[in-house]
Amino acid sequence: MNQDELKALVGQAALQYVVPGEVVGVGTGSTVDKFIDALASIRDRVTGAVSSSVRSTQRLQAIGIRVVEATEVPRLGVYIDGADEIDHQGFMIKGGGAALTREKIVADLADRFICIADQSKLVDTLGQFPLPVEVIPMAVPQVIRRFASLGGEAQVRAGVLTDNGHPIVDVRGLRITDPLGLESEINQWPGVVTVGIFARHRASACLLGTPQGVRTLRF
Ligand code: 5RP
Repeated sequence: MNQDELKALVGQAALQYVVPGEVVGVGTGSTVDKFIDALASIRDRVTGAVSSSVRSTQRLQAIGIRVVEATEVPRLGVYIDGADEIDHQGFMIKGGGAALTREKIVADLADRFICIADQSKLVDTLGQFPLPVEVIPMAVPQVIRRFASLGGEAQVRAGVLTDNGHPIVDVRGLRITDPLGLESEINQWPGVVTVGIFARHRASACLLGTPQGVRTLRF
């Protein structure tokens, strides 16, 4: 099976977590696109979705699913999203698709975060994938300098603004051995909107696509 087929496998498997009659939280990315494709088959049972990006909103609406604003929903039972990396504790790097801020907001509404990913995303230590950080423009140079002091090389992602209109910096060279601590530290830096470490909002479970089928990791 190729990577695309593994993504389709876990996108389909995630349907079992969608509770009929409830609003579901929907992430962003190519794996989530597969989930949305699968969601079309049960759309009559889905009351609505809170979406984490313009991209996912458009795809959900195209298959006839009502998109509900996050502001209208006090809680969600489940949020389904992909990851750029996930470790054996359910800590993740996210934001490869630049949707990290809205993803963290929707994840924060949810009782459970179900991560869907192909097996290439499972790592022992986070940091091989460049860490995305959404930053207020005037703070970009000082945020880059702070990462340099931690041994990271941060670069503005060329030609990309988030749905919130901000740039992303991608940080290479970090070996993230303490995801909770590093997320908390970066969150304190002035101008950081969101860091793509999802430690406080880690996955509750991960459906991992492997050639042998879906492997479920529970955290
Ligand atoms: C978007 C994300 C995605 O979940 C992450 O980039 C994984 O994407 P894909 O499923 O395309 O590999 O965090 O901001």
